[in-house]
Amino acid sequence: GLKIAVIGGGSSYTPEIIEGFINRHHELPVKEIHLVDIPEGMWKLEIVGALAKRMVARAGVDIEIVLTTNRRAAIEKADFVTTQFRVGGLAARAKDERIPLKYDVLGQETTGPGGFAKAMRTIPVILEICNDIEELAPNAWLINFTNPAGLITEVVQKYTNVKVIGLCNVPIGMVKMVANILEVESKRVKIDFVGLNHLVWGSKVLVDGEDVTQIVLNKLSDGAALTMKNIPDLKWDSEFLNSLGMLPCPYHRYFYMMEDMVKDQQKAIEEGGKGTRAEQVLEVEKGLFEVYKDDTLQEKPQQLEKRGGAYYSDAAVSLISAIHNNKKQLHVVNVKNNGTIIGLPKDVVIEVTAVVDKTGAHPIQVGEISPKIYGLIQGVKAFEELTVEAGVKGDYQMALQAMAVHPLVPSVTVAKKLLDDILIENKEYLPQF
Ligand code: NAD
Ligand code: G6P
Ligand code: MN
Repeated sequence: GLKIAVIGGGSSYTPEIIEGFINRHHELPVKEIHLVDIPEGMWKLEIVGALAKRMVARAGVDIEIVLTTNRRAAIEKADFVTTQFRVGGLAARAKDERIPLKYDVLGQETTGPGGFAKAMRTIPVILEICNDIEELAPNAWLINFTNPAGLITEVVQKYTNVKVIGLCNVPIGMVKMVANILEVESKRVKIDFVGLNHLVWGSKVLVDGEDVTQIVLNKLSDGAALTMKNIPDLKWDSEFLNSLGMLPCPYHRYFYMMEDMVKDQQKAIEEGGKGTRAEQVLEVEKGLFEVYKDDTLQEKPQQLEKRGGAYYSDAAVSLISAIHNNKKQLHVVNVKNNGTIIGLPKDVVIEVTAVVDKTGAHPIQVGEISPKIYGLIQGVKAFEELTVEAGVKGDYQMALQAMAVHPLVPSVTVAKKLLDDILIENKEYLPQF
């Protein structure tokens, strides 16, 4: 049987991944799941871990659930390591969301300066985890869910020998939402994806092999909803959509509708407002853990749908099964570019449709991309490359360049203020600086 280590096991998303392993147990013979957390997270791990045990017992599958703070023991001889941890918790996320708003810049946990800050805190930890994997489970696959997922996957790709695939629920979420809009079963929908994590376009939408891209764009123009729980559903400009000719992802609103999104966020932090997303999630999470504590609950509760990470279980466990069973199946993943998109370096990580087998994810060739999208892709990728360097080396100059180059940061003056605020506010989590 297989051994799985889940880093950040106290996450409220854990019932998602447990459900995924239960549903696929017939094809994926998992024997042990080690849920790893840090001492501060133990109270959450105990609650969600107890639920995980009840879920497994109820399903009647023979999976042992282990709750632990011993990361090395959990990683030792693991077949798959998944990462879903958050350094600094939601308090740090709230700072990431609030700091940029002072300068009228987008305050978001993965996009813009907030994503930079989250990356700085995460990089030292992911490198430690990879050290453990290199030493104790050199053949294991790392499935990285920790945000900013594309950028963190690039750190692993560039600086370690660990076999890694990065994963986000946005592509699978878009497939499900398009299926909803078109009122067809989601297995009939196929979308070709190209771009970066949280900056991915559906270049073509097919139903039973027939191109329906324009039909979907028309529905979006008419106001059909296509978003995640964490992103306000601002409507698209129909002329823009039609001339783009591709399906934007929910996160594209932060670029294409920047002022409106910033205004929306600023309104949320006014006196009596609903607060930043982290502050809202704090409330959702309190509710979730109350529900998890109920010892008659034996399955993933519906309330988990209030989080942005819906369908995580499907995405993660079907990917793991495709590797284990050498399925040669299509998955949308974060992997090394290696010439897939012309105009980006070989060693950067992109988000793209790939064939997954036991040797990993093999991207489907994209080639040249339209000038409608390559400017934004290159701009954000330049920011990511500089951020990777800055975060690994603790290099202030590189960090300043990263911040200054980001398409959502208006000037060097603002870049410098943001950077200094971020470094001060996150001091305790930045051993590299
Ligand atoms: P969370 O705040 O609940 O954190 C999960 C757990 O990580 C907590 O129990 C915490 O104690 C633990 N943790 C913190 N530092 C740790 C460390 N050094 N080692 C081990 N565990 C540690 O977070 P969440 O909201 O459940 O999200 C978890 C992660 O998943 C975040 O990074 C988030 O951005 C990411 N996420 C990714 C996607 C995606 O599409 N890729 C979707 C949703 C969430
Ligand atoms: C989205 C994304 C994740 C993101 C999350 C936020 O769907 O794909 O990468 O971190 O959901 O959800 P939350 O409920 O934490 O705001
Ligand atoms: Mn994501």
